[in-house]
This record gives sequence, structure tokens and C-alpha cells, in this order.
Amino acid sequence: MTEEKVQLYRGLREVYIDRTTSSFIDGDIGKLLYRGYNIDDLAVKSTFEETAYLVMYGELPTREQLAAFDSELKASRGLPGEILDVIKLTRNSHPMDVLRTAISALSAYDADTEDNSTEATLRKGVRLTAQAPTIVAAHARIRDGNDPVDPDPSVNHATNFLQMLNGEAPDPQDAALIDKDFVLHAEHGINASAFGARVAASTIADLHCAITTGVAVLKGPSHGGAAEEVMKMAQEIGSEENAEKYVRDRLDGGGRIMGFGHRVYKAIDPRSVHLQEDAKALGERKGEPGWFGILQNVIEVMEPYRRRGIYQNVDFFSGTIYYLLGIPDDLFISIFAMGRVPGWTAQVVEQFENNILLRPRLQYTGEMDRTYVPIEERS
Ligand SMILES: CC(C)(COP(=O)(O)OP(=O)(O)OC[C@H]1O[C@@H](n2cnc3c(N)ncnc32)[C@H](O)[C@@H]1OP(=O)(O)O)[C@@H](O)C(=O)NCCC(=O)NCCS
Repeated sequence: MTEEKVQLYRGLREVYIDRTTSSFIDGDIGKLLYRGYNIDDLAVKSTFEETAYLVMYGELPTREQLAAFDSELKASRGLPGEILDVIKLTRNSHPMDVLRTAISALSAYDADTEDNSTEATLRKGVRLTAQAPTIVAAHARIRDGNDPVDPDPSVNHATNFLQMLNGEAPDPQDAALIDKDFVLHAEHGINASAFGARVAASTIADLHCAITTGVAVLKGPSHGGAAEEVMKMAQEIGSEENAEKYVRDRLDGGGRIMGFGHRVYKAIDPRSVHLQEDAKALGERKGEPGWFGILQNVIEVMEPYRRRGIYQNVDFFSGTIYYLLGIPDDLFISIFAMGRVPGWTAQVVEQFENNILLRPRLQYTGEMDRTYVPIEERS
């Protein structure tokens, strides 16, 4: 056996691989900026359309720019009939697998697929932002035996998603929560899925490849999959009184509490603060305050973990919001993905504009120079 002598950075923890102007995270105080604007302002003052423009183009839009961007998004919502066929063929897969497959297949129908210029990449980013909700909603309906609902160009992005999903106009308050949720998920630096997207882009593969990769990486429970797991946990706990025993048993058994901990935040994830308020208000409005109560008790039991920098993250309350809005559990990560398309696009544009192949190394720890033994001589 041999072991090369190298400096290892397992998990790339604390390793900076490039510069960005897309977003800034101060994990010690729980601060998040998109293009210099605080997420706390954007969450309450902006819309997903405006935030998506900001993330992709770097500036808040003027009224005219926003209107043009919004028209472009609305005009791009439809899917080619062949993509609906792809969704039908893959209807039994997890919604994230269907989203990944449909985004990949959309490359066959986009006039700009092979064009990696900034302008074309942004045009594709706008189209994929608009198409992602149509894919997710169409799949959800098709697997339930219903016809897909056509996108409605008279309503905003969040309203359109809920309308395509449920086949009826949503309560404006529900749509406003999804709009805010999309704002809170729009960009988050070089997390695992954006890193995956950048690795694809660094080989000069195109945006469809990069976003297909981003969706694939986001699926795991250590990343976007946590929201679904948190809601499952709340259901298993079942009542506020059970929260303490459940959390202690799980931690004593070496398990993790989903929706807690973060590679960068060692304080409260600022996105979770907004989602916490929304989950509370929504629970009361829907006459189901119990879920919030259970999660609140989980936070109390996890209090000692704060000393180790383990706080609730973005996924802790988002699942409860989706659940209370009647959205099926396995669609939760897809909602995260829909919101994140602008962020992945911005990361890919940055990668293309100052490209370097992302190709780290692995330390070899296996045997060296072994003698090949013919198969008839092996015992
Ligand atoms: C997100 C996550 C993968 C980040 O992990 P990381 O930066 O690689 O940190 P580690 O996995 O090395 O964990 C560091 C320590 O904190 C503990 N820890 C981290 N998250 C924890 C959690 N959710 N519950 C209990 N303990 C946790 C680990 O057990 C580890 O303890 P140890 O040092 O005694 O072994 C991790 O916090 C996690 O698995 N969280 C749950 C899933 C989740 O909510 N993901 C969504 C992220 S937005």
C-alpha cells in the first residue's frame, strides 16, 4: 500500500474555488445578499420575477425591463408536445427525476442549446425558469390521471404554478407564499447543486447540461431533499408532547434531525426566519397550527446544538408550508428547484465568463505495481 503525501480538503470544506458577484453569505451571523441586496428586503418587498431578473442580470430592473422580462417568462411557459410525452413516459419516477429528464430533453427544442454566449445562456435561463413549473405541474396531474393545465399568461409565476397544479385559481395569499418561497430559494452561491452546474459548465457543456446536473445534485436529502424529510418527521412525531422524546431518541441513535445544520451557516439561516413566520401564520389560517407547534418544540430540544453552530435551515419550515398548501410531499424539492433556476443560470454565466476546468484530484491509497495473474492461475 502507498499513500501520496498531499494536503487533502475533504468535502472542499472552506475551500474557495472562485469569485462571484451573484450572492454573499456570512454564515457566522446568518446574512444572505443577492447581488448586494439583503434577502430580508427582497423577501418582503420584491417578487420572484423581479428577484430572478436581479439574480440573472445583476441589477434591479426598471419598470420597463421588468415588464419585458415578465412577458418573456410568460411567453416561455409552454412545453413542446414531445416533452409532455416524455413526462407521460416517466410518470412513475420521482418528480425530481421527471424534472431532470424533461429539462435535459428540452435541449432538443431550444434554438440556443449549443450557444454558450452570455446572451444566449440568459435567454435559456429565462426559458427554463418559465418551463420548470409547467413540467412539475404537468407531471403531478398526469400521474394522477388528469390532463395537464395550460399555463395562464394573465397571472404571475407563482399563481400560474399553483393553478397548473390544482386546476383552479389559488387563494392569492397562498400564491404570495409560494412567490416568497421562490424568492428565498433563487440563489445560494456555490452549494452542491450550483457546484455541479459549474463543473458541467467548466467543461464548456451548455446550460441545459448544467441545470440538468443541478437538479440531479439537489435531489439528495443532504441538500434539497431535507424539506420532505422534515415534514415526514413532523408526521412521525404526531404531537407537540412527543417532540422531545423523538428528537432525543433519534440523536441518541446517531441520527440527524433534518432541516438542521448547514455547511456555511453556523447561525440561523436567514431564509428560515421568513419561512418560520409564514408557517406559523399559514397554520393558523388553515386551522392546523399543530405542525408549527411540533417544529417549534423540535427547535427547543435542539437548543444545546446551537453551541456547535447547528441551527434550523431553509428546509425546516418550507415543507410545512407546502404541506399546508396541499402540495404532495414528493413535490417539495421540485419547488426548491423551480426557484433556483435563476441562481444556477447566474453561476453558469459567471463560470463561462471566466472559465477554468473544475478538475480536482484524489489521493491514491491503493496498492502499487501489482503483478498481473492470468485468470486460470488465480485462486
Ligand atoms: C447540511 C449538512 C449535510 C451539513 O453538513 P456538514 O457541513 O458536512 O457537517 P457534518 O455532516 O460534518 O456535521 C458536523 C457535525 O454536526 C452534526 N450535525 C450536523 N447536522 C446535524 C443534524 N441535522 N442533526 C444532528 N447533528 C448534526 C454532525 O453529526 C457532526 O457531528 P460530529 O462532529 O460529532 O460528527 C448536515 O448539517 C445535515 O446532514 N443536515 C441535515 C440535512 C439538511 O437539513 N440538509 C439541508 C441543508 S440546507
